[in-house]
Amino acid sequence: MKTLANKVVAITGAGSGIGRALAVRCAGLGARLALSDVNEASLDEAVARCRAVGAEVHRERVDVGRRDEIYAWAAEVERSLGPAEVIVNNAGVSLSQTVADMRDEDFAWLMDINFWGVVHGTRAFLPQLRSRAEGHVVNVSSVFGIIAVPTQSAYNASKFALRGFTEALRMELGRTSVRVTCVHPGGIDTNIVTNGRHYRDPTMRAVDPSELARAFKRVARTSPEEAARQICGAILAERPRLLIGRDAFVIDKLQRLLPDAYDRLVGSAMRLIDRK
Ligand SMILES: NC(=O)c1ccc[n+]([C@@H]2O[C@H](COP(=O)([O-])OP(=O)(O)OC[C@H]3O[C@@H](n4cnc5c(N)ncnc54)[C@H](O)[C@@H]3O)[C@@H](O)[C@H]2O)c1
Repeated sequence: MKTLANKVVAITGAGSGIGRALAVRCAGLGARLALSDVNEASLDEAVARCRAVGAEVHRERVDVGRRDEIYAWAAEVERSLGPAEVIVNNAGVSLSQTVADMRDEDFAWLMDINFWGVVHGTRAFLPQLRSRAEGHVVNVSSVFGIIAVPTQSAYNASKFALRGFTEALRMELGRTSVRVTCVHPGGIDTNIVTNGRHYRDPTMRAVDPSELARAFKRVARTSPEEAARQICGAILAERPRLLIGRDAFVIDKLQRLLPDAYDRLVGSAMRLIDRK
């Protein structure tokens, strides 16, 4: 896709963080936007920011954990703006708990949003993308879709699964006019931790929420605006895979160099962050 001007771009989780910054960036590039989020107050702020730069915006409250809501939203977007050219499956949540102590309902909550939300978002919009001259699916995984970390088993499982789903989709669509990008952000300075459910930190101690938020701030070195700039660049350059942030490049290399020994380095890094 050479331009986003006049393209219908649908974004989930558009109220905060990466999704909001991406909405504002796409608005500036002349896209026509379909924005959704489960949090209506933050969604309204994002919509106002996009309309302030003159963008046409369709907004809807959508819980991506609910298949019926995603399909209803996709149909409504097509009726209001015409078939979408881009779907960005961005909505996601975080959860920190050990495998042994994880409640089934927390595990299911995260998988419904982070994994099934992306699967349904992709499948609901795919017919629209295919009906256009060109289309693009952007699925937001994580560096935690590349390496695993203690207490992140559910998040890791969702983001590793997304990577597999997205890479298979890319191959299936190889001969069509729809391109696919899997995004692996490193630490991005957003509300992901404050919006999550956290019981144990990576050193397995009970979580102190304010301390966890401070620790995240220390490692989340990339701004959401920079992440949005790179995601738009990946759509325009039709890149299959996007790592965001220096930390993401280091982690990706580490996993390739030490596939069965990186966990020792992860352990040392966690102890270091903990001491700071
Ligand atoms: N921030 C990071 O360091 C980081 C790193 C790697 C990957 N990611 C991924 O980036 C994506 C965006 O996260 P963010 O960092 O901008 O976090 P964020 O919390 O700032 O934004 C996430 C948005 O998703 C929305 N959301 C949550 N549950 C939802 C649901 N059930 N239905 C619809 N919307 C829902 C929230 O209301 C929020 O607006 C997520 O998929 C996250 O896993 C973030």
